[in-house]
Amino acid sequence: MKFFIDTADLNEIRDLAATGLVDGVTTNPSLIAKNGGDFIEVIKEICGIVSGPVSAECVATDHETMLKEGLYLAKIADNIAVKVPLTVDGLKTCKALSDDGIMVNVTLCFSAAQALLAAKAGAAFISPFVGRLDDIGHDGMQLIAEVVQIYSNYEFDTEVLVASIRNPLHVIDAAKMGADVATIPPSTLKQLFKHPLTDKGLDAFLKDWASTGQTIL
Ligand code: E4P
Repeated sequence: MKFFIDTADLNEIRDLAATGLVDGVTTNPSLIAKNGGDFIEVIKEICGIVSGPVSAECVATDHETMLKEGLYLAKIADNIAVKVPLTVDGLKTCKALSDDGIMVNVTLCFSAAQALLAAKAGAAFISPFVGRLDDIGHDGMQLIAEVVQIYSNYEFDTEVLVASIRNPLHVIDAAKMGADVATIPPSTLKQLFKHPLTDKGLDAFLKDWASTGQTIL
């Protein structure tokens, strides 16, 4: 399973990329606004830190302008995945960019039917938003199970990128279901490392080691 980080914060990206566990980055207009800075420059910097796919989102809503934006964004670096919304114009743009060999991440997916359309439009990634479905009383992870099954039935190449992750359980459930990618907020990724018994066990080992009076180096 690949781990992307869901942020435009360059310090967080540098910090987590240094673990060797980050396979890509996703951004969206809200994350860009939260981070501040010039959109294109921020995306360029991210592409220099991470060699895997970096999602940069179009903001036009009509096909013609979205396609121009997508072609422009794709020129920033070889590892750009152009992000388009799951709308008729978004999927038309997805098809055109994918036919041109450009990676496309179709975002704001909330149903299996939408995910099926994105795969048929040649998306490299589909981003179902689990947290936002949970927020309105639906079962976000059930959508992941459905999309994984549908894509497997037809051997679509589109990767299931679990988005809007809110907690470590979302990541574990996505892994159990065989989702290809989880895009994880930095705070949640850091939570994955932690277990109280690891801290407790390490404290005890270090205390016992100190009592031997030895050093390794
Ligand atoms: C990722 O591509 C999405 O933009 C992101 O996961 C949305 O997460 P949110 O629902 O926490 O804003």
